[in-house]
Amino acid sequence: MLRSAFLALSRNQAMRSFSERSKVGRRLSGRFVAGMTVDEALQAAEQVNSDGIAVSLDSLGESVAAEPQARASAEIYHRLLDQIQARGINANVSAKLTQMGMDFDPALAERIMAEIVAHATAADSFVRVDMEGSELTEATLLMVERLHAQAHGRVGAVLQSYLYRTEADTDRLLGQGIRIRLCKGAYKEGPSLAFPAKADVDRNYVKLARRMVASPVFCGMATHDEAIVTEICRFVQEKGIAKSAFEFQMLYGVRRDLQRRLAAEGFGVRVYIPFGTEWYPYFMRRLAERPANLLFLAKNFFRN
Ligand code: FDA
Repeated sequence: MLRSAFLALSRNQAMRSFSERSKVGRRLSGRFVAGMTVDEALQAAEQVNSDGIAVSLDSLGESVAAEPQARASAEIYHRLLDQIQARGINANVSAKLTQMGMDFDPALAERIMAEIVAHATAADSFVRVDMEGSELTEATLLMVERLHAQAHGRVGAVLQSYLYRTEADTDRLLGQGIRIRLCKGAYKEGPSLAFPAKADVDRNYVKLARRMVASPVFCGMATHDEAIVTEICRFVQEKGIAKSAFEFQMLYGVRRDLQRRLAAEGFGVRVYIPFGTEWYPYFMRRLAERPANLLFLAKNFFRN
């Protein structure tokens, strides 16, 4: 119930523009968002690196409606890649296709992404194309496949274990050597496309995670689910899979204790750091995942 309400709110334009302009909103979003500027994000990345943890930087924004906005989004990624290289930060970048114009001109989005991937290749970095709602799954995977054909190993995809199609997509991408980030999925999807029961989403996650970590392709296991993390650790130990064959990925501000513990145990860990003024839809999806966060935020808000 609450999940659906927050997901519906995440798409509400009036609430979005009101919240993103309000001081209170910006303050609350600080729980999950590492500041509004490139510089603040880079500082947060350096801080996370100091714990032996890698980073993926995400300039927040999605569903842009015109080319100048898409170009402005891309410009931030080019600045990020320059700064990551100049400052020697252990980071790559994550970007959404709807931020690059996918909703109104997919060819433009592809040209923009190809430029970012080329820049990442020159800067010895990597671009992860985030996965959005299911109406974009196939188009996103096709684009990642074409980009990968030009820049092998410099671009990767995200698959969501809540979708029935993901098992076939796992084999499809692994077969081409495309790096995958596996997550559960953060959008609202119907029962014709996605497992309605969380237990099935979790079961599918574990099944596909095993396949990915055992493959020769370096994949990211993106979850804060401690039972699943424990199962992956057990599985790799049982099969003699090297800890360096994959990495765990978690979100900025979520389960820092687990992030640090895994890093201390010698696993690769990467934290996804979002930043920027367009934080509202991202923030609402985090509340949808864990409505108890609202209570946590309220407590901290009144304490300050
Ligand atoms: P689950 O939701 O079952 O939570 C397990 C436990 O984790 C909870 O009990 C709680 O302890 C903790 N937890 C989870 N979410 C929390 C939160 N917001 N605040 C506090 N604690 C929380 N999705 C997508 O559709 N496309 C994408 O591209 C990405 N990209 C992505 C990158 C990375 C690095 C991560 C970690 C996640 C994503 N996601 C995503 C989001 C993902 O699909 C999913 O919605 C969240 O990760 C929550 O699912 P969990 O696997 O953590 O499990």
